Amino acid sequence: MKIELVKLPYETKALEPVISQRTIELHHGKHLSTYVNNLNNLLPGTSFENLSLEDIVRRSDGAIFNNAGQVLNHNLYFTQFSPKGGGNPSGKLAEAINAAFGTFENFQKEFEAAATSLFGSGWAWLAEMKDGRLIIVKEPNGGNPVTKELIPLLGFDVWEHAYYIDYENRRAEHLKALWQIIDWNVVEARYE
Ligand SMILES: [Fe+2]
Repeated sequence: MKIELVKLPYETKALEPVISQRTIELHHGKHLSTYVNNLNNLLPGTSFENLSLEDIVRRSDGAIFNNAGQVLNHNLYFTQFSPKGGGNPSGKLAEAINAAFGTFENFQKEFEAAATSLFGSGWAWLAEMKDGRLIIVKEPNGGNPVTKELIPLLGFDVWEHAYYIDYENRRAEHLKALWQIIDWNVVEARYE
């Protein structure tokens, strides 16, 4: 099965000023594209060849895990944004956020703190447990919550390639701005 580069559901400049066109072009067109190409070179002839991307991430290690993890991570990442995003989640997801974190504002604070404090490269995830409860998970490098039998709902990429052109070393500032472009309809659909 050939792994495809995910299509952006918006123009490359549509997320400005939160994420610049240049960053999207490099992040999607170069970084993600490289992970996709690497994976397509690594998979043929292996036992992972016909598995879903999620199952490849669950079962592999080494170079296949790193590249498959980053493809899955970025597929979730790029499709969770919209120029018309922002605001608050609603419905069952909002209820689950309140149950786990008290308020949406407190969830944002805890999520930003997890992402800011992650040392080096990695991801902060809002993830769903088997019983529907929510948890914040920090993953180093190309990790994804599917390896812990969790469902990833929302991911903040804290690799420097995600923000360095726009925010230089100000990771926390970048993370705070991301809330303006989160498409909660997409995140809610992942939960339901
Ligand atoms: Fe990235």
